[in-house]
Amino acid sequence: MTLADTIDFFPPEEWQTDGFTLRSWRPGDGPAIFQAVDSSRHHLRVFMPWVDKHATLADSEHYVRGARAAYLKAEKCDLGVFAPDGRVLGGSGFFARDGWLAEGKAEIGMWVRADEAGRGLATRILLEMLRWGFTDWPFLRLAWRCSGSNAASARVAEKGGMRLEGVLRAYTVEPDGTREDTHVYGILRHEWVAR
Ligand SMILES: CC(C)(COP(=O)(O)OP(=O)(O)OC[C@H]1O[C@@H](n2cnc3c(N)ncnc32)[C@H](O)[C@@H]1OP(=O)(O)O)[C@@H](O)C(=O)NCCC(=O)NCCS
Repeated sequence: MTLADTIDFFPPEEWQTDGFTLRSWRPGDGPAIFQAVDSSRHHLRVFMPWVDKHATLADSEHYVRGARAAYLKAEKCDLGVFAPDGRVLGGSGFFARDGWLAEGKAEIGMWVRADEAGRGLATRILLEMLRWGFTDWPFLRLAWRCSGSNAASARVAEKGGMRLEGVLRAYTVEPDGTREDTHVYGILRHEWVAR
């Protein structure tokens, strides 16, 4: 896929699994994401400073509408993780970082609500993101970055079969102002196919 071709690429709408659905945020999802973030502020804030942008229901509704617009324009693909009953379990996405659809690469981001953490959910989401990204999306390379102090996140990447490719020293500025190394993980489509 070249840059000229990306205008003909329509981001797929959703990916369904046994336990959850991955899909673009949509207008009207504001209350659901607000409830998930609001119940998880302490858990998320350590590595996700954006939680404070969800101060009110209106903030969250504004956010999902913006995310939907960016998705339709294929600029970035911010996803909700929805339980069968519609509850938001967390979020994920394919994000542009040093290249995007035209280069066949993206970075996967993720968060899981506090009361669902520690049960293997992030690992399952990552495996499904890789499956979706290397089939319905044109990605040849998917990456994951985490702070060197985010052991849970690093473990999720490892369990997803991603390889530690490098350490960017003192790269991440944490919400409290301290600097941490950033660990970069990656997996190529042919490695995923061979698994
Ligand atoms: C990181 C996060 C996504 C993990 O979600 P999760 O559903 O709890 O992850 P899983 O249960 O699939 O796996 C977590 C793994 O990390 C391990 N782990 C959890 N906390 C850990 C810690 N403090 N130190 C070391 N390992 C840890 C778990 O034991 C598990 O590994 P195991 O199966 O080998 O025992 C979740 O904690 C989260 O949303 N954190 C806040 C946002 C965030 O940091 N996102 C990632 C940004 S890069």
